[in-house]
Amino acid sequence: MPPAGSPPRRYNRIVPKILVTGGAGYIGSLTTYQLLQRGFEVVVVDDLSRGHRHNVPPDLLRVVHLQETAALAPLLIGVDAVVHFAAFIAVGESAREPELYFSNNVGGTISLLAAMARAGVKRLVFSSTAAVYGNPETIPIPEDAPLAPVSPYGESKLIVERMLKQLDEFRGLRSVALRYFNACGAMPEAGFGEQHDPETHLIPLLFRAIDTGEPIKIFGNDYPTPDGTCVRDYIHVSDLAEAHLAALDYLMNGGKSDVFNAGAGRGQTVMEVMRAVEEVTGRKVPYVIAPRREGDAAELVADSGKLRRVLGWKPVRSELGRIVKDAWEFFQSARAGASRP
Ligand code: UFG
Repeated sequence: MPPAGSPPRRYNRIVPKILVTGGAGYIGSLTTYQLLQRGFEVVVVDDLSRGHRHNVPPDLLRVVHLQETAALAPLLIGVDAVVHFAAFIAVGESAREPELYFSNNVGGTISLLAAMARAGVKRLVFSSTAAVYGNPETIPIPEDAPLAPVSPYGESKLIVERMLKQLDEFRGLRSVALRYFNACGAMPEAGFGEQHDPETHLIPLLFRAIDTGEPIKIFGNDYPTPDGTCVRDYIHVSDLAEAHLAALDYLMNGGKSDVFNAGAGRGQTVMEVMRAVEEVTGRKVPYVIAPRREGDAAELVADSGKLRRVLGWKPVRSELGRIVKDAWEFFQSARAGASRP
């Protein structure tokens, strides 16, 4: 025992220290919350260009842009692992502004990796995407399916996955890339949920249609799917956050670099999601059928067997009714908050 009054011991630390990039965003803030709940020490780096300051405890937040390598490096000293969320995520925007996506998503990651190398940090959990598969030939999609992104967003994530393979070999960096399917839902009990600006995601837009009476556009009803609308794999954001904790645990226990699909492993059509929204809210969703949205695959469903088998993950809140109920609760409280003076 150190004598009374001496400073706390800083060596032999048993609480892992995690640096979270993009921790003010939708999935990053919820993962940060779950890390803190488990007793991890956490530092959040976010430039707040798209995230929200109120999502992070103020004492944990460092407002730094990822491309500021020199500012990042000191924050990484003593860090056991990085969870890297910070990125632009809108597929449509990436088609209009590809350079922005390569600069932010690839350039930002290169800078982060350089800072990690300087500080000797050897573990990384990376937010990848189902968009790396493009229009898949096989459903459900296994991790070894052909990689053929059809948007600069998907390509930017695939480039990073490829860099990570090389860094494993040449830097000894151990990484897990989680290829997200459709993250959705909320944790209203803790105040976390989806608040993108502009919003492009289906569930919040269905709520908005109910709220404003302005019909939502359903992008295509002539796909080769059961009701003609696109099929997606909706995973509750809290289950997705848990996949990051499982990945960290795996890396901290000496796991080798790998890639995992992060989806619930079942598909739902846009119309099924709309019906779930109508059931939970007790309201009719006004909608119109619009042309297909460019770049949308007919069907994206994960084979999530590897995530379950290797990382011991299983979904707890990803049943569609639960997703919609949580998201609706959050939507209503955010709306009430916004209308308060
Ligand atoms: N949709 C509509 N109308 C809308 C919005 C969406 O019909 O106003 C449909 C889309 O066409 C799609 C489904 O609802 O069939 C889901 O669309 P989202 O925009 O909510 O999600 P995406 O499947 O397009 O995108 C998600 C992630 C991306 C990721 C992609 C992987 O949000 O970050 O999955 O394919 F790249």
